[in-house]
Amino acid sequence: FLHKLVLGIETSCDDTAAAVVDETGNVLGEAIHSQTEVHLKTGGIVPPVAQQLHRENIQRIVQEAVSASKVSPSELSAIATTIKPGLALSLGVGLSFSLQLVHQLKKPFIPIHHMEAHALTIRLLNKVEFPFLVLLISGGHCLLALVRGVSDFLLLGKSLDIAPGDMLDKVARRLSLIKHPECSTMSGGKAIEHLAKQGNKLHFDIKPPMQRAKNCDFSFSGLQHHVIDKIIMQKEKEEGIQKGQILSSAAHIAAAVQHTIACHIAKRTHRAILFCKQRHLLSQSNAVLVVSGGVASNLYIRKALEIVTNATQCTLLCPPPRLCTDNGIMIAWNGIERLRAGVGVLHNTEGIRYEPK
Ligand code: KG4
Ligand code: ZN
Repeated sequence: FLHKLVLGIETSCDDTAAAVVDETGNVLGEAIHSQTEVHLKTGGIVPPVAQQLHRENIQRIVQEAVSASKVSPSELSAIATTIKPGLALSLGVGLSFSLQLVHQLKKPFIPIHHMEAHALTIRLLNKVEFPFLVLLISGGHCLLALVRGVSDFLLLGKSLDIAPGDMLDKVARRLSLIKHPECSTMSGGKAIEHLAKQGNKLHFDIKPPMQRAKNCDFSFSGLQHHVIDKIIMQKEKEEGIQKGQILSSAAHIAAAVQHTIACHIAKRTHRAILFCKQRHLLSQSNAVLVVSGGVASNLYIRKALEIVTNATQCTLLCPPPRLCTDNGIMIAWNGIERLRAGVGVLHNTEGIRYEPK
């Protein structure tokens, strides 16, 4: 065969996703089933529910991706599957299914680290050479790492508590933005970005966290509680407001929150760039910062990061939104990268066991 072909399978959280990708980065087939709607109703992911939904959908999603690719399963070079980190019950569904398939088709198996896959996605689109810096910001992730090779990461910073998307989702809930006529179909983060355009960020004074910390870690939970306290205070001020009604100051709060987390994320990233340059871990003149994850689609946060990259002679790259969020393509591509580098390709999966709780 001319090309390496990898089937990637992702079930670490609330998306059941699969894709077939070739060595040059062509996406031959993909399919995804999102559980977001179900989890929105419960106000968060209930792991056994997620597990059940993965079980109901995995066979169909993998089949859809493979048939769309027009590749016969026997032509696959390997099967790559997310094995960590994530919800144990969700991961188990993908892993069990993949091991069965690996056994049935007699193919090599490539276990994938979900964060490595997010970080390497950009190389499917751009010729980004190692090393580069990656910032992953989503509802479940928050980290800064230096990517030195396919499986060679230096973790520079992470959130000490929750991820920024998680915080935005909680604030949006407190603001009842789901009831806002313009925001009812948006994720919490997107609703805040939308509303912030109509607000004044200086109306509320919210300080960025960790201003004196001499590292590249993040924190969002103190900020979250501070903002929620402000919301409660505003609710008391705006007398007669009904439960679920939108505060008249909601846009100002959204603008202030967005501004504060943009500053926090930009400052921590600035520290990481300076750290890497001082230690000659990154090129002085053409370093690359890759930003990915659901929160990376926020244009205000991107602007803040652009200011940082412009000031430090770095190039800022973001994968398109559909590749920023969880998907099967990134897992398949990580499989291709590992095949090419010759790392972590298992020809015998006898020893791998997964016992769901
Ligand atoms: O990557 P993702 O789809 O899922 C994971 O969390 O893994 O990210 C979803 C998160 C949610 O918390 C959502 O509120 C946030 O990304 N998000 C945004 C925007 N769009 C989605 N946050 C800020 N601004 C946005 N435009
Ligand atoms: Zn993810």
